[in-house]
Amino acid sequence: MDFTRRDIISIRDFSKEEIEYILESAARMEARLGSKLNLLEGKILACLFFEPSTRTRLSFEAAMKRLGGRVIGFSKAGVASIAKGENLTDTIKTVTNYADVIVIRHPREGAARLAAEVSEVPVINAGDGSNQHPTQTLLDLYTIKKEKGRLDVKAAIVGDLKYGRTVHSLAHALAMFGASLILVSPSGLEMPPEVLADLLELGVEVKESHNLEEAVSEAEVLYVTRIQKERFPDPEEYEKVKGAYKVTREMLASARKDLIVMHPLPRIDEISPEVDLTEHARYFQQVRNGLPVRMALLTLVLGVE
Ligand code: NCD
Repeated sequence: MDFTRRDIISIRDFSKEEIEYILESAARMEARLGSKLNLLEGKILACLFFEPSTRTRLSFEAAMKRLGGRVIGFSKAGVASIAKGENLTDTIKTVTNYADVIVIRHPREGAARLAAEVSEVPVINAGDGSNQHPTQTLLDLYTIKKEKGRLDVKAAIVGDLKYGRTVHSLAHALAMFGASLILVSPSGLEMPPEVLADLLELGVEVKESHNLEEAVSEAEVLYVTRIQKERFPDPEEYEKVKGAYKVTREMLASARKDLIVMHPLPRIDEISPEVDLTEHARYFQQVRNGLPVRMALLTLVLGVE
């Protein structure tokens, strides 16, 4: 399978076989983490972050550097010429001359696809508005596969299903692999109709619910997300739903013993810190798994493995 020069924009662009191949490649990368790797020596990654990020940006940078490559870029839109009024396509047409691969995060849906159209080097989407976050999904799948040995799990996806890009990508991917899904959100933040229609088309069992306790007691994987405050057109609407759900240690008493609790992070208050100490918590393992997954992606799109 050849991923050379391939853009990574949406999880929907990938077949099951391709996703499996990426996960296997990540597992091989993880096994090599302890040794010195120079696979991307002489290569340059441009990280263009028009929105805040901790894990995604730093793990891409760390991944590139651990492979012997170098990194350029910015982590605040305010410092790039965008702040002077430059449009995204001009920015990309510029950066494509300096780098071998571009990672972009942007507040607008479709921005990564647009960037890929004008870039001569591969573009990886690190999140475009509320649309997609494919590399997060790949590390989420990697984590589930590692913990459960399979992907056709019973998963409860909880939180801001309307604006959350991680859950849009993840729900699609899990449905492709035959998972059954319980979608739990505060009212008004349900999965958008087009995403839901797509899930149903994949022929999986999908249940929508407002009952977190019930979902916790049924699921094998509990994927919790933050309410995406910055995407609310009206701050008052956010005030109505903030703090609407919280996974607590007591709630987990009714959970399956083998339940794993995941979260793409950052968390605000939707998982209480005492859950970190339980045998269910896996969110920091997800963080750890981000590194080999992103190392694998960089080597694959650069055609070096
Ligand atoms: C997420 C994002 O940016 O979409 N974080 C991440 O990349 N791990 C989730 C979020 O911001 O809530």
